[in-house]
Amino acid sequence: MDECLVEKQKKNAATSTRQVAEPVAMADLVIQPETFMSTGISEMDRVLGQGLVQGAAYLLGGEPGIGKSTLALQIAQRVAGFGRKVLYVSGEESVQQLALRGKRVGDTPPSLMVLSQVNVVQIIDAIESYEPDFFILDSIQVVFHPDVPSVSGSVQQVRVCAMALIQMIKEKQIAGLFIGHITKDGSLAGPKALEHLVDVILYFEGESAQQYRLLRCVKNRYANTYELGVFLMNERGLSEVNQPSAFFIDRDTINRPGTAVSGVLEGQRVLLIEIQALVVDSGYGMAKRTFLGVDAHRANLMIAAIEKILRIKLSQKDIILNIIGGLRIKEPAVDLAIVAAILSSLYEKELPHQIGVFGEVGLTGEIRAVPHANKRLIEFEKMGFLQCVVPERNRVGQKIKTIKPLYVSTLKDALSVLF
Ligand code: TYD
Ligand code: MG
Repeated sequence: MDECLVEKQKKNAATSTRQVAEPVAMADLVIQPETFMSTGISEMDRVLGQGLVQGAAYLLGGEPGIGKSTLALQIAQRVAGFGRKVLYVSGEESVQQLALRGKRVGDTPPSLMVLSQVNVVQIIDAIESYEPDFFILDSIQVVFHPDVPSVSGSVQQVRVCAMALIQMIKEKQIAGLFIGHITKDGSLAGPKALEHLVDVILYFEGESAQQYRLLRCVKNRYANTYELGVFLMNERGLSEVNQPSAFFIDRDTINRPGTAVSGVLEGQRVLLIEIQALVVDSGYGMAKRTFLGVDAHRANLMIAAIEKILRIKLSQKDIILNIIGGLRIKEPAVDLAIVAAILSSLYEKELPHQIGVFGEVGLTGEIRAVPHANKRLIEFEKMGFLQCVVPERNRVGQKIKTIKPLYVSTLKDALSVLF
């Protein structure tokens, strides 16, 4: 069997060399649009583009216990529910365990096959005989190729196994998803070595103590990579969250001192987020700065702008910033909300009732326009906010109904509106 595989690999290597040697005129190529295969889970489809692509290799990474196997199994059930042939290969669980989990999280259509196997040669045989449209391998760290002497999970094993499977994915034009475990510091070499081999990389994240899970795409050869999927883990597996803003702002805390609510773009969607600041007198020595979820460079820039432009001294203050829900935001549109949260904590004074804040802060204290201001306002309106601080430069073309925009052009304007 192994010889067979080696022979086949040699043959493939020979054909691929010949293809490389014969260039084709780019203009003559007939472009075929990607055909997407829906996963039946709209949060997943949005993150992927429109669904799975035939002939594409996917990597789903995440910490152990976060819900990767559950998500993959639910996708397998839905895809099979559309009459497609799906194969779920697990090297970690027995077929009985898979069936039990399957029963708990959804319906199992007859075209969903399961296999418990760790030998990649046998897995390839199984794919060749069942010819699925989509297969899942749970996980890439536990499988091994008998020709490679190192242990499962080693960089070499992971690479060889993935390459053999990806070759098959491309040849047979099927979609394949590899699950990969990542430790907290991302130190496990295996999945990292895979990143440039696969077409799409997804990360499943969340805090195990909390119910929600975020699906993030960090590489996608077929679509925009910035979409975020939001799920909830409950007793019957994962459910989709179609209105995620409600999860990241806390009705009880948003009207307290030290809190500001902003709107960020996550792909095509706006998400309302809550920024909390704690500003306290520092003891002797250097003031401490702790930034959770906010970009440290931008946070330091905001602190410098408050000192220089508003002439408010912060050098003797410890400043802690946190974005509720473990989100990580890089968008400069939250600048003004960071300033608002810091000042609100410093003055121990809450912001006006039900107010949203967005705008980028420039180095001279000017408030710069943000993309899709209207979309952000609509989301605030939808979540029941009454007013919103908006950059003056975003004034033209606003089509909002009930929410009151408070336009500001400088940091000083914003300060007088907010306090
Ligand atoms: P799992 O998908 O096994 O995680 P991973 O494959 O990423 O290691 O999910 C593990 C956790 O999810 C487990 O601690 C229990 C929880 N869980 C639920 O809360 N509800 C469910 O329906 C399922 C299947 C799991
Ligand atoms: Mg698992």
